[in-house]
Amino acid sequence: MDSIWIQGGKRLEGKIPISGAKNAALALLPCALLTEDKLTLGNLPRLADVDSFGHLLNQLGVSTMVEGVRRGEYGRRMTLHAADIASTVAPYDMVRKMRASILVLGPMLARAGEATVSLPGGCAIGDRPIDLHLQALECLGAEIELAAGYVKATAPKGRLAGGDYSFPVVSVGATENALMAAVLARGRSQLFNAAREPEIADLCNLLVAMGARIEGIGSSHLIVEGVEGLHGATYDVMPDRIEAGSYACAAGITGGCIELVGARPGDMCSIVNALCHAGLMVEFNDHGVKVTADGKLKPLALTTAPFPGFATDMQAQFMAMLSLAEGDSFLEETIFENRYMHVPELRRMGADVEIRGRSALVHGVEKLTGASVMATDLRASMSLVLAGLAAEAETEVLRVYHLDRGYERLEEKLSAVGAAIERRSSG
Ligand code: EPZ
Repeated sequence: MDSIWIQGGKRLEGKIPISGAKNAALALLPCALLTEDKLTLGNLPRLADVDSFGHLLNQLGVSTMVEGVRRGEYGRRMTLHAADIASTVAPYDMVRKMRASILVLGPMLARAGEATVSLPGGCAIGDRPIDLHLQALECLGAEIELAAGYVKATAPKGRLAGGDYSFPVVSVGATENALMAAVLARGRSQLFNAAREPEIADLCNLLVAMGARIEGIGSSHLIVEGVEGLHGATYDVMPDRIEAGSYACAAGITGGCIELVGARPGDMCSIVNALCHAGLMVEFNDHGVKVTADGKLKPLALTTAPFPGFATDMQAQFMAMLSLAEGDSFLEETIFENRYMHVPELRRMGADVEIRGRSALVHGVEKLTGASVMATDLRASMSLVLAGLAAEAETEVLRVYHLDRGYERLEEKLSAVGAAIERRSSG
C-alpha cells in the first residue's frame, strides 16, 4: 500500500488546477443509462471512484471509451454508450467498494423498468441508509422489495408515473436518484426540500442537455415533466468545489498564496466566507479563486449544513487548519454521525481537540509535529495531509487509497506550489 511523505513547514505559493468534481461525476456517469445514444463527459477527474463507476456501468452493458490525456493535463473525456442494458443487477462486490453505486438505481429503473442493486451498507463516517431514495422512487410508482441484502425496484407496466415527494431530510443522493427516475416517468413530478448542492444543478443541466424538462434548477423545489426518451449529449463536469476548498486550507495552514485555477466562486460561498473569517484574503478573477494567508489564523464557529450552508465535506480540512488558529474554534457536524475520525490522528500531531457528541472544540496550538498517521476516510485523510504540510519534521500518511478516491494527483499539485511531498510504495 502506498503512503504519502511530507516534510512540513514550507510556505505554499503558486497555481493549482482544479479538477472536475468527484461528486458531480458520480451523478453524471449513470445518466448514460437513460439513453441509447452516446454520452460524452469531459473534465472527468482521474480518480479511483470514477474508474470504479465505469467498471460498474460496464457490468450493466454500458461501453466506455476514455480518450488519452496529454502529460501534465488533468481531466479526461469519456464516451459512454448504453445501446442496450445487458444486466439490471448491480452486484454486492461492486457496490460495497463504492456507495455511490446506488445512483444506478433510478436511471436503470427509468430505462429498463426494473433494477436490482445491492444495499450499499454503511461506511466509516456513518450508517448512510437509503430509505429516502426508496421512498422517492415509490412516490414515482416504483414497487420496492428488499431481500438478501439487495433492493429490487420494479416499474409497473414498465414505466414510472410522475409523482410528488417531499424529502424529510435533505439528501444529495436521493435527490439525484429521484431526478434520474423522474425524467422518463409518465407525467409531472415535483421534489420538495430537494438538495441544492451545485452537483445537483450540474446533473439537472446535463439531463436538460439530453432533452429532459426540469424547472427550478438550483432551488429546493424541482419540477420534472417526464419525456418519452432522452438523446445523447456532450457535457463537461463542473469544477470540484471541495478540492478547491481543501487546497485553500493548504494556503491557510502554511501562510501561503495559492490560485485555485478553474474554481467557481458561486459554488464556494460558505467556504469562502469561512476562509475570510479565519483571516485569509480571497480574490476572484477570470481564472478562478486566489487565496492568500499571512500565517495568522483566527478561530471560527462552524456548523455543517446542506448547501448553501457550510459543507460537511470541508469540516475535517478546516479542523486541521484551525488547530493552529489563535484561540478556540467550535465545530458542529450535523450531517453524519461519525465524521471525527481524523481527530485522534490530529491529536497525535499535537492538535488539541475535544469531542462532545457531534461537537468539537479546537484549542489552537503554536505548532504541530510530524508523525506517522492513518487515513480512515477521504476527507479525514486530506486533513492529515494539511496538518503534515504545516507540521515540524516529517509526516507519513498511511492508507492513501482513501485520498485517491477524491483527489486527482494530489502530490503533483502540491509539489507544484512548493510542498516537499512524495508518494512511496510499500509493496
Ligand atoms: C453525498 O453523499 C456526497 N457523496 C458526500 O460526499 C457528501 O458528504 C454528502 O452528499 C452530503 O453533502 C457523493 O455525492 C458521492 P446525503 P450522500 O444523502 O448523497 C442521511 C465525500 O467526501 N440519509 O446527502 O450519501 C444520511 O445518513 C462524500 O465526497 C438518510 O437518512 O449524502 C446523512 O446523514 C462523503 N436516508 C444525510 O442524510 C437516505 O436515504 C445526508 O446524506 C439518504 C441519506
